[in-house]
Amino acid sequence: LFGPPPAHSVLDMPTLVAEGPRAGPQLSDAPLLRALRGEETPRLPVWFMRQAGRSLPEYREVRRGAGLVEITHTPELAAEVTLQPVRRHGVDAAILFSDIVTPLEAIGVDVEIRPGVGPVIATPVRSAADLRRLRPFEPASDAPWLEETVRLVCAELRVPLIGFAGGPFTLASYLIEGGPSKVQARARALMLSDSPTWRALLERLADIALASLTAQVAAGAQAVQIFDSWVGSLSARHYDEHVLPVVKRLLDGLKALDVPRIYFGLGTGHLLESIGRAGPDAVGLDWRVPLREGRRRIPPGIALQGNLDPVACLGSGAVLEAEAAEVLAHAPSSGYVFNLGHGVLPETDPGLLTHLVELVHAHDARAEASS
Ligand code: CP3
Repeated sequence: LFGPPPAHSVLDMPTLVAEGPRAGPQLSDAPLLRALRGEETPRLPVWFMRQAGRSLPEYREVRRGAGLVEITHTPELAAEVTLQPVRRHGVDAAILFSDIVTPLEAIGVDVEIRPGVGPVIATPVRSAADLRRLRPFEPASDAPWLEETVRLVCAELRVPLIGFAGGPFTLASYLIEGGPSKVQARARALMLSDSPTWRALLERLADIALASLTAQVAAGAQAVQIFDSWVGSLSARHYDEHVLPVVKRLLDGLKALDVPRIYFGLGTGHLLESIGRAGPDAVGLDWRVPLREGRRRIPPGIALQGNLDPVACLGSGAVLEAEAAEVLAHAPSSGYVFNLGHGVLPETDPGLLTHLVELVHAHDARAEASS
């Protein structure tokens, strides 16, 4: 009579299966997701690009025992470092611990991430024949640890997880240059002199990003960000002609995932109209473009994210407070996510980042907007 409570009725199962591992109703209303959909939020959501990583002593501790690639390939370690900044700072999102070149490494590209340098590719891709080395990315078999990490993270998280991928131009620039470069001269020269190879390369990279993001969302990620960090080196004309169509196709393909799609690049002040036309749900701005100007030049249906200069976190608390107040004073009252204008610098005092989260959460956007 007083036996154990009944297990879930089989009638419940179809709903459970249909919902899969995705967010329950509580998370779909999380401030980050509301803001990315353009809605008002009870408090401003905030997270930091590159929040997991070198500024955290607990990350360095994990890193002492394992290389970056080893961490990304070990779901327990990757999940742990993904969760570290959420626990410590109380940010409104986690971002998957991985790297933009991880899918390339998973399909056999000889890429090495050198500390203090960045991704280095031993055999660069510079011709149509080289494209053969870029086969399609099949996450389930090429990178089983990817979905497993996302599942582990989502089982513990109370805020959304942002999945990410490198943008086609940014990945192409690493592949063509063979490593980091200041102005991506070789990559942009190939773009002009061999546009069929260029287009084929970017299309393949977009397909790799799509496959990776699809797997991340299927496993539980609730938003995605495309880091096209280096597009700022292109003129608007070259971006429109040689990059935008591929970015647009990628963003269109991502629509089926039904999660907000953020597009970020550095130094994109001259590209904002083009990026708006690519059709993301949100645009990440670096510190060079005032939020108010961004709001004016990006269509109203697209949310904004950014854009405190990361160096504001290298000084005193007073410097940080003054710089953050300046960003917040111009923040849109809805459809806005606070972030840095680029990644957390390794030498940042993590205590200041926690303080910054408190400042942003204490900010009353509506009061500011109506004052
Ligand atoms: O917290 C997070 O944001 C999640 C993890 C993450 C990493 N890389 C881990 C990482 C993310 C989102 C990235 C994205 C990334 N990687 C970008 C786009 C963002 C940006 O900064 O513009 C780019 C261009 C890369 C390529 C890359 N990987 C660079 C330039 C570097 C730095 C090299 C260095 O040491 O200065 C890396 C290495 C890297 N990726 C580290 C981490 C934590 C540091 C290296 C380490 O721990 O050994």
